[in-house]
Amino acid sequence: MFPKIFKQLFKKDGTAQAIAMHRLVETLGKKNKRVIYDSFASNFVYGRSLFKFFGHKFDIWILKKIIPGLHEHIIARTKYLDDIIEQSILNGFKQYVILAAGYDSRANRLNIPNDINIFELDQSEVQKRKRSILDKIVPRSQKIIYIEIDFNKENLTQKLLDAGFDANKNTIFTLEGISQYITKDSFKSTLNEINQLTKQTKTKIFFSYTDIAINESPQDLFGKNYPHPGKKINRIKKIVDALGEPWISFYSRNEIEKLLLKNDFKLVEIKKLEDLNDKYFKSVNRVIGEKNIFNLENFVVVQNF
Ligand SMILES: C[S@@+](CC[C@H](N)C(=O)[O-])C[C@H]1O[C@@H](n2cnc3c(N)ncnc32)[C@H](O)[C@@H]1O
Repeated sequence: MFPKIFKQLFKKDGTAQAIAMHRLVETLGKKNKRVIYDSFASNFVYGRSLFKFFGHKFDIWILKKIIPGLHEHIIARTKYLDDIIEQSILNGFKQYVILAAGYDSRANRLNIPNDINIFELDQSEVQKRKRSILDKIVPRSQKIIYIEIDFNKENLTQKLLDAGFDANKNTIFTLEGISQYITKDSFKSTLNEINQLTKQTKTKIFFSYTDIAINESPQDLFGKNYPHPGKKINRIKKIVDALGEPWISFYSRNEIEKLLLKNDFKLVEIKKLEDLNDKYFKSVNRVIGEKNIFNLENFVVVQNF
């Protein structure tokens, strides 16, 4: 029953909405309780009134019942990436490419100077809905360029160059929560294309990936005494399958390191929820206990040699 309803409800944007829902829930928290604030998120989420009605505390309680630590994982990823973008801009990066942007609102939400071009790429259906919603609430910014793409079928380089990407500007690329959804070939060719495209300049990439342990030893992704890790992973897989966006690609650390080396990138930093727990959740009195830690993805920052 659920797959049918989900397919009718979501037009390829089920997972993009799910992430926006987590940002909406976090945003509902009081200033001293929340880790991020995303005033745009609510506009993209079906059923937003319900989340607003029940409020931050209750929503988080329910989300914890379904899959402990998943909300915090997504919020830590959002905050970590916000910090990276803000720092990169201070460090002189002049272009920002958001691959699989979904309903990410950084282009509008962060204080990004007008001389920095932002390229947002995603599937046609998701981009059309995003633009139609944004057009009603915020003036269209010259600096945000929307590009429709299917990473599994289309060429990134050509799409970017056609849209005005400048191969002489230092650029930051982000792939947040996407590597699981696309084939390994298309992830590899994306890294390769970025490498070829940015040989003359300083390049930084953020991407997240899920370790192959998710299939082989799921307990490795969780804190001590986390309840039923395997069951929780099956639950997420069922949800993304029902949304029509199954997870198909997982990586070992070794595989990632080889891939980076092959494409002239070096690892700068790799973090997961447990590494960011103190930094982001302590200050709002929400430190996550061991039995609620879910390190679903690794957050990776790399730069070219
Ligand atoms: C989990 S969402 C993450 C969205 C966004 N990065 C965020 O964190 O809010 C995954 C995104 O990948 C996009 N996506 C999945 N497969 C894709 C493909 N083959 N080509 C382009 N985008 C794709 C989806 O449309 C969706 O927006």
